[in-house]
Amino acid sequence: MIRILLIGNGAREHVMAETVKRSAHDTALFSCMKSNNPGIAFLSNDVLTTSYDDREKIGQFARENKIDFAIIGPEDPLNNGIVDFLKNEGIPSVGPTKSLARLETSKAFTRNLLEKYDIPGNPQFRTFTSLDGIEEFIAPLDGIVVKPDGLTGGKGVMVQGDHFQTKDEAIEHCKKILEKYPSVMVEEKFEGEEFSLQCLCDGITVVATPPVQDHKRRFVGDKGPNTGGMGSYSLEDHSLPFLKKEDVAEGLAITQMVAQAIHQETGEYYKGVMYGGFIVTRDGVRLLEYNARFGDPEAMNILPLLKTDFVDICRAIIDGTLKDLNIEFEKKATVCKYIVPGGYGLPADHPDAGSTSSKIEVSDTEGVKVYYSSVDKREDGLYMTSSRAIGIVGIADTLDSAEEMAEGAIASIKGPIDHRPDIGTKSLIDKRIQHMKEIRG
Ligand code: GLY
Repeated sequence: MIRILLIGNGAREHVMAETVKRSAHDTALFSCMKSNNPGIAFLSNDVLTTSYDDREKIGQFARENKIDFAIIGPEDPLNNGIVDFLKNEGIPSVGPTKSLARLETSKAFTRNLLEKYDIPGNPQFRTFTSLDGIEEFIAPLDGIVVKPDGLTGGKGVMVQGDHFQTKDEAIEHCKKILEKYPSVMVEEKFEGEEFSLQCLCDGITVVATPPVQDHKRRFVGDKGPNTGGMGSYSLEDHSLPFLKKEDVAEGLAITQMVAQAIHQETGEYYKGVMYGGFIVTRDGVRLLEYNARFGDPEAMNILPLLKTDFVDICRAIIDGTLKDLNIEFEKKATVCKYIVPGGYGLPADHPDAGSTSSKIEVSDTEGVKVYYSSVDKREDGLYMTSSRAIGIVGIADTLDSAEEMAEGAIASIKGPIDHRPDIGTKSLIDKRIQHMKEIRG
């Protein structure tokens, strides 16, 4: 029996748990969550509910359950050094050490790595620890992006044209960021369409999974504040409607160079997921950021399609034998839509912000995948809490059918839910294609 520790409690980890349990190997799953996810708990042999900071408790749980290896879902435990801690206990992980997780946790580390090793994909950028020099740096730029040099749950990036208009406002945002974080990244803004390329890496070999497009904005038509991601889609041909074949190859090539560079730089092999947030521009593919884990929601698009045994993949990542595995995905389209409470993602001063727990009933979801995130299962039923509640995933031969399946399931859910009905629809996809046509000229 293979005894696996899974850390994380979101819908991303629910699909990871499901993918582990689909393995042909005899597995026992032990889950460490900071709040109970009923979907993960149902698939687990035992559960530890604790803060991801509590490495001693996690270590004890791992020892007691004779864990063979761990899989780390979210960024926080990576940033807390859980992989280093478990390594000292003799337990290997699918997930990078604290130092290598800087690929996500320090935007400056990643930008400097690309620059030092001459890897394409960087914008013009600089890191500032004070306001000195920012005005001069941004003066020649056509568009500006500012972001804290740290973890922000995907919500800290401020983009000119979207979140602010003028250069003075950019400086004002830098000031606010520097009040909370030690440094601020200031970058040239790219124009184009974004895609997520989640790559598996054993330190040497890098394998791309099908590209996915996420939707960060809260409301229909990409309006409203940034969220952790309201939903995502992928296509049956393992491309995206606005991408050329070489765009995905370019994203993979950058990631391969980064895996090599990170080894040269630190002497350590990166073992886990390198999720590149890329943007395809008029001049080719550029890097927005890396995450050191699967995407949420993007994991829900690709893991249900995985044909290769996930446990074999995890082992190959740990053992450095990924090159010997043929990693395959079903040729299906997927549409994932998160259902959320109405107040989710709104600024704290918005009259509808926040939410009290509300009861929901999820019944008729035949053929559709349902992955729990922020939900509470009580004796009298299922409650949404304050964040993204449930990822609903339609999987079909075409995008239209996958979208219809997801919408059909969402329509059958009873309760005060909200979601983005436009994700995966033809009209939104056509806009993306048109946008890219204009950009490519
Ligand atoms: N989909 C955004 C993220 O996982 O960070």
